[in-house]
Amino acid sequence: MKAIKTIGVLCSGGDCPGMNAAIRSVVRTALVNDINVFGIQNGYSGLLEEKFKSMNTSDVGNIIQRGGTILQTSRCLDFHKQEIREKAYEVLKKFHIDALVVIGGNGSFSGAHCLSKEHKFPVAGIPATIDNDISGTDFTLGFFTAVETGIRAVDNIRDTASSHNRNFIIEVMGRKSPAIAIHVGICTGAESVILSQNKINFDELASGITHGEKRGKKSSIIIVAESDSENSTYEIQKTLQSNFNISSHVCILGHIQRGGTPIAFDRFLASKMGYIVVTNLLKEKKSIVSVVRNGSVTYTSLEECVGTELKSDSTNLDMIKVLSL
Ligand code: F6P
Repeated sequence: MKAIKTIGVLCSGGDCPGMNAAIRSVVRTALVNDINVFGIQNGYSGLLEEKFKSMNTSDVGNIIQRGGTILQTSRCLDFHKQEIREKAYEVLKKFHIDALVVIGGNGSFSGAHCLSKEHKFPVAGIPATIDNDISGTDFTLGFFTAVETGIRAVDNIRDTASSHNRNFIIEVMGRKSPAIAIHVGICTGAESVILSQNKINFDELASGITHGEKRGKKSSIIIVAESDSENSTYEIQKTLQSNFNISSHVCILGHIQRGGTPIAFDRFLASKMGYIVVTNLLKEKKSIVSVVRNGSVTYTSLEECVGTELKSDSTNLDMIKVLSL
């Protein structure tokens, strides 16, 4: 395999806290190894549009604490097409880029995997998404910061909910992943967590709320994972009111969970994932991904981190019912 002398780095998909810390780690680890680095603006779209910038060590100074991404990001649906990836490969060759580092989620990794297979081109991945839904790694970058942001918001709502004897239905992010809803639900002592992939048992939901009221509870918090269908959380509110005479307020947390300064765990993870992935990319010269396993950051093949549907742990939902009695 060809020696790696120049790499490109880009962020792809939804941004997440910790992306900047990862960019910093990738750039500095590469530079220390005498590797040139191009920062690619705006994900795969920027790659196709040749939006490249040579990076030096001060370009990534004072960013470890910042949310979002200095490189910006995008969802490039065109990258699912082989002819578009062919074009991307031509651009990479034009800039003499020998390997690409992709900081992103599962859609971005699928594109990276195709590019890598079609052109025998090394792509290194850093799993970065608030959804924690990439196979092969216990945790993704940004997940725990998003959960922390969700928890702080729900704690605030709980204060006002219990002061006014109100029930709240709070929608958190994760259209395709239940992870944020489950973690926020457990950590805020929510009375119930509703996942978009499960059918809602309204009788059970309503009896949980009325049972709590009888015991003297001043509020109930129901966490709902965002769903594909519009207004679904407001539909839950309507059904509780019309069928069970239970009133509630809806609060949609939305993109507030994607921004903000990364917590210590995500800064550490970003730094270590960037360091491990670049160091081993230079050694292995093939497509790899930095992952968390058994509490340590290590790496595995890109292949292992694409395509597998993750199963959610039903123990967590059972536990929420027991603990919120
Ligand atoms: O990046 C992951 C995520 O925030 C999901 O939790 C959410 O369902 C989706 O992205 C929202 O995407 P967009 O910001 O493109 O609407």
